[in-house]
Amino acid sequence: MPSILFVCLGNICRSPLAEGALRAEAARLGFDLIVDSAGTGNWHAGEAPDERAQRTALKHGVDISALRARQVTKGDFRRFTHIIALDHENLSNLRKLAPSDSTAELSLLLDHVPGREGQAVTDPWFGDEAGFEVTWDEVEAAARGLAAQLRAL
Ligand code: 4NP
Repeated sequence: MPSILFVCLGNICRSPLAEGALRAEAARLGFDLIVDSAGTGNWHAGEAPDERAQRTALKHGVDISALRARQVTKGDFRRFTHIIALDHENLSNLRKLAPSDSTAELSLLLDHVPGREGQAVTDPWFGDEAGFEVTWDEVEAAARGLAAQLRAL
């Protein structure tokens, strides 16, 4: 079964939204996969997603309130088939952190959206709630692309 780990910096805004969007898309399509998210940083470990992220997801019918932030571990590189970074800085930090026996395929989230390959998901942390809507649109598009790719495996 495919297992997907989304990674951003704090694991309270972008990656929990990506996790919620992919869970919802997999449920909609009726196929099983393991989905989780983590942060390269640990400042927010144990916290629920940012309230603006929770409200935005809920507006789109997805409840992410039960998620709790955690930091990525070396074990994640053996446990997950795919580790997907939300931006270039986190992807670069993941590459540095990867143990030599890593089996996970690393990519950038928007690589899974035709026409947006190589781009970063907007970081909504310093903006207002409208920014979270932009992030939601991006993670939802990626969830659709990813679900289609993973189903074809
Ligand atoms: P995230 O957003 O990486 O999408 O969860 C952020 C969360 C916290 C901070 C920055 C970005 N921070 O600076 O604490």
